[in-house]
Amino acid sequence: MINFTGQTLAITGAASGIGAAVARLFHQHGANLVLIDRQEDALAALADALGTKDRVMVCPLDVTQAGLLEAAFEQTQSRFGGIDHLVPAAGIYRPAPMATMTDAEWAATISINLDAVFRTCRAALPHLRDGGSIVNIASIAGHRGSASHTHYSASKGAILAFSRALAGEVAPRLRVNTVSPGIIATPMTTDLVRDRGERLLAQTPLGRFGTADEVAGVIAFLCSNLASFVTGETIHVNGGLYMAS
Ligand SMILES: NC(=O)c1ccc[n+]([C@@H]2O[C@H](COP(=O)([O-])OP(=O)(O)OC[C@H]3O[C@@H](n4cnc5c(N)ncnc54)[C@H](O)[C@@H]3O)[C@@H](O)[C@H]2O)c1
Repeated sequence: MINFTGQTLAITGAASGIGAAVARLFHQHGANLVLIDRQEDALAALADALGTKDRVMVCPLDVTQAGLLEAAFEQTQSRFGGIDHLVPAAGIYRPAPMATMTDAEWAATISINLDAVFRTCRAALPHLRDGGSIVNIASIAGHRGSASHTHYSASKGAILAFSRALAGEVAPRLRVNTVSPGIIATPMTTDLVRDRGERLLAQTPLGRFGTADEVAGVIAFLCSNLASFVTGETIHVNGGLYMAS
């Protein structure tokens, strides 16, 4: 039912976790890939593992640096003729209690998790082909907050509103949706799982953490024709943690 042959996915945060899982799944379903991340070696390793070099373009860059995304998408236009699916997945999750949070800590999180999503979408818009779709990644923290992560929670709450506003603006040409993952086992959550894992597991009806592949599956669904009448929506992927809390 899902076939991305001849279509192009541009994804940031592609070198790790959810971004890498999305890249692998779309590749498996025939998509061309534009892999963006600041971890150059990990990007190259992913591209090598995927194999088919003619369908994979690697863009090692920092999404907060002005002008680089625009250049990458110009290159995408020449190489693949445009973009069909955009997933800005680059993000950081760093603890910083409110009382001692510095301006720099606040700004670092907002600049990657929110500003760069805006800039990624803006840079991609002229290249997104009719019928294309954007899936942004929020978080359960954007709905219920995450202690010692006010900056992260604020950025993800903003992503929910940003995506709904954008969905209205670019319809009917494009669809824009959001996934809100709960606790997904990736490098991002290693410390969280170590410090608060037991308590979070006890609150999760499905009794385990999610996998990056399980988030990727929902993103692929939202980009596919199976979701052709779905826009401006958020799908929670959290094993029931949000519903139960
Ligand atoms: N893992 C979870 O439990 C979880 C839950 C909710 C939301 N999310 C969100 O999902 C997305 C992916 O998270 P993940 O779990 O795969 O994390 P991850 O740490 O495994 O991957 C994040 C990737 O983003 C890249 N990145 C960070 N800053 C960048 C920058 N300035 N420029 C370019 N690349 C940059 C990193 O190099 C890394 O490869 C993030 O937006 C995250 O907030 C994750």
